[in-house]
Amino acid sequence: MAISIYSSTYNGLQGVIINVEVEISRGLPAFNIVGLADTAVRESKERVRSAIINSGYDFPLGKITVNLAPADIKKVGSLLDLPIAIGILAATDQINSEGINNFIIVGELSLNGDITSIRGALPIVIEGIRNNLVKFIVPTVNALECSLIEKAEIYPFDTLNQVTTYLKHRDMLPYKNNCVNRKKDSNMDFSEVVGQNATKRALEIACAGGHNIIMFGPPGCGKSMLASRIPTILPSLTYEESLDVTKIYSITGKLHPNEGLIVNRPYRAPHHTATKTALIGGGSQLVPGEITLSHHGILFLDELLEFNKTVLEVLREPLESKQITISRCTGSVVYPADFMLVASLNPCPCGYYLSKVRECTCSDHDRIKYLSKLSGPFLDRIDMFSFAYAHNFNEMTSTTKEESSESIRKRVEAARQIQRKRFALEKLNCNGDMSGRHIRKYCTVDSAAEDILNRYFNKFPFSMRIYNKVLKISRTIADLENSKDITSSHVVEAISYRQFIKGDVI
Ligand SMILES: Nc1ncnc2c1ncn2[C@@H]1O[C@H](COP(=O)(O)OP(=O)(O)OP(=O)(O)O)[C@@H](O)[C@H]1O
Ligand SMILES: [Mg+2]
Repeated sequence: MAISIYSSTYNGLQGVIINVEVEISRGLPAFNIVGLADTAVRESKERVRSAIINSGYDFPLGKITVNLAPADIKKVGSLLDLPIAIGILAATDQINSEGINNFIIVGELSLNGDITSIRGALPIVIEGIRNNLVKFIVPTVNALECSLIEKAEIYPFDTLNQVTTYLKHRDMLPYKNNCVNRKKDSNMDFSEVVGQNATKRALEIACAGGHNIIMFGPPGCGKSMLASRIPTILPSLTYEESLDVTKIYSITGKLHPNEGLIVNRPYRAPHHTATKTALIGGGSQLVPGEITLSHHGILFLDELLEFNKTVLEVLREPLESKQITISRCTGSVVYPADFMLVASLNPCPCGYYLSKVRECTCSDHDRIKYLSKLSGPFLDRIDMFSFAYAHNFNEMTSTTKEESSESIRKRVEAARQIQRKRFALEKLNCNGDMSGRHIRKYCTVDSAAEDILNRYFNKFPFSMRIYNKVLKISRTIADLENSKDITSSHVVEAISYRQFIKGDVI
């Protein structure tokens, strides 16, 4: 008789429940796994055989067939080792298989029978609960992330022998999560950055409304320093956002066993040698890239112009749609990519164009060539530009007390709170997510502001996208002031963030 056990795999960020059917018949010894298994699953044969023998059980001599159903879904990862081993032991009556179908069983086996960690445990538990399967046998290292889902009954184990003993005696209570998730304290603060008040203000607006921003300026004026301190002023994640982020880190195997729910917004700063695949995801395993790892957080591209032009161009689609579809002949997945892009660059090859402290040695041609890496459509997707200036000696040695991250974060948080209320009935998180329909509904301006917009947009030939961006940023500036109406001062400030390299209004 064939034994059937529930297990799971995942597709993209979605858990997929599967049935592991094991049948052992008479015949020449053979061990076959059928049902669209990837290499990692096919290789499980060797691990399962050794784990069973090294745990003190007999490995059957007959013809073993393992069917992974439904057969049309690709099974990925090494997480099916444990259910296959349990299936073989149950099919040969070496363990008690009664009630085994109440569990979803996942885990990778080592040759000596230890159960090692798996990727994607959290999405698997979420999918199990959705299918009314509430009991899970999982590796101990994954217990904490699995227990984040309230209804789930988690039974964590370290070895195959512990699982078989439990199935025999059923003598264990489900795992209880005593961990309290706290925001990690940063040892950096905005107050350490001398001056740069305009860029600090621009970053505050960007974080408050979820707007993209490019900082430009001469070398050594604090652009990278400011960017690395952005996490200290970001608003907290909501529970749903935390769960989304934790799911992504679970799938990519980047979740620390002691971490549980991720409560800090992601901050990713890939090096400029990053490839397209590293940034958007893909590869033969269709893994998520940096843009998905930055979901609900920040993607910081330092030295933007050092990135390969084609790498920058692939960002165009996710910047707009806030997700990425990766298609390969092996399948296709959609990953979320709702990130805030922060980038920094020097305004010219020598770095000192517009700087008051040193003469720029570049020709106009040098500058145009240098900036040509940033295509029109790419720049069109950027919400804000901010110039960071070079300090003179007095500014460098100034003893003025700078504002702390905590006090900036309070304003950002208050503005986000207004946005959460505003969008309670919409599927939006912040002003940056608004589409044309929402902009018409939530960004009405007074007549003076209308007049300014009229004059400005008649003077410069802008895209509709830019017009919408100016309105969205104006909305955020008004929210930071707790002002219901968008007035002329909000619009004027929003327009000022469209100045890229002086004289070139973008
Ligand atoms: N505004 C500032 N306040 C305090 N220290 C600063 C400031 N700007 C620069 N520094 C000091 O100079 C170092 C270099 O700054 P940073 O790397 O942020 O410059 P940058 O603008 O990113 O330069 P580049 O264009 O070369 O990348 C910092 O680590 C810090 O010690
Ligand atoms: Mg830098």
